[in-house]
Amino acid sequence: MTFPIGIFDSGVGGLSVLQEIALVLPNENLIYVGDTENIPYGNKSVNEIRLFADRIVQFLLSHHVKIIVVACNTASAAALTWLREKYSEMLFIGIEPAIKPGVKSSENKCIGVLATEHTLNSERYFSLVKRYSSETTLYQDPCLGLVSKIENGKHRDTETQKLLEKVIYPMLEKGVDIFILGCTHYPFVKDIIEKLINNNGIIINPAPAIAEQTQRILKINKINNKEINKNRRVDFFATGNIDTFSRTATNLLNQEIIATKLNLH
Ligand code: DGL
Repeated sequence: MTFPIGIFDSGVGGLSVLQEIALVLPNENLIYVGDTENIPYGNKSVNEIRLFADRIVQFLLSHHVKIIVVACNTASAAALTWLREKYSEMLFIGIEPAIKPGVKSSENKCIGVLATEHTLNSERYFSLVKRYSSETTLYQDPCLGLVSKIENGKHRDTETQKLLEKVIYPMLEKGVDIFILGCTHYPFVKDIIEKLINNNGIIINPAPAIAEQTQRILKINKINNKEINKNRRVDFFATGNIDTFSRTATNLLNQEIIATKLNLH
């Protein structure tokens, strides 16, 4: 089935998921939407995020997507269950902080979660914590300002490094040995975090697991593209400034990306 896979996020963060999906599913056509007009989602209300997600889903449906990957922890926390109910015929894949694998791998029983304010205050997150981490201490940080640095192509700046030092060093001092990237933007600063941790901990980026999950669901539903698709299409749309999006995306993915402007009102 050659219909595309739809993927969306508030901005460039979901590209960390897209690049894993592109790797494991080389024959699938992809459509990516970055809702940069409304970024950040991390400080928005549930209703606002649902409205944004709804508009994007309708756009993706008009492009006949066969599955939608909500490549955003914040949108998954606020809208995934709601979207599944509203579009009950559609397949959705969501993303959430990897608490379960994190707890399993932590020797010190002490984990750090980096995610947006919205995610950390969501019911979905509370229920994950309740279910899996009763004997583990959790430290959380919303990394305020980090999403905007990454959006603006400043993921390698000294300022970004400083911001992360303030998050990572106190966690290390408390004995955190597992660092969960609970926002899809954060894999783009994994190198900096790795340096700061200096072999004293492990980083969990859930993007590869989401790509595998997408592959599995396509197969189970027999809607994976079985044909070789050498010239597969990957289309990028942004609701905000397309030059900024294209520049940052090109930089992050190391390949030229030209986004199309999308008006969702
Ligand atoms: N990338 C999004 C996430 O995974 C959030 C970024 C934002 O605050 O918009 O949560």
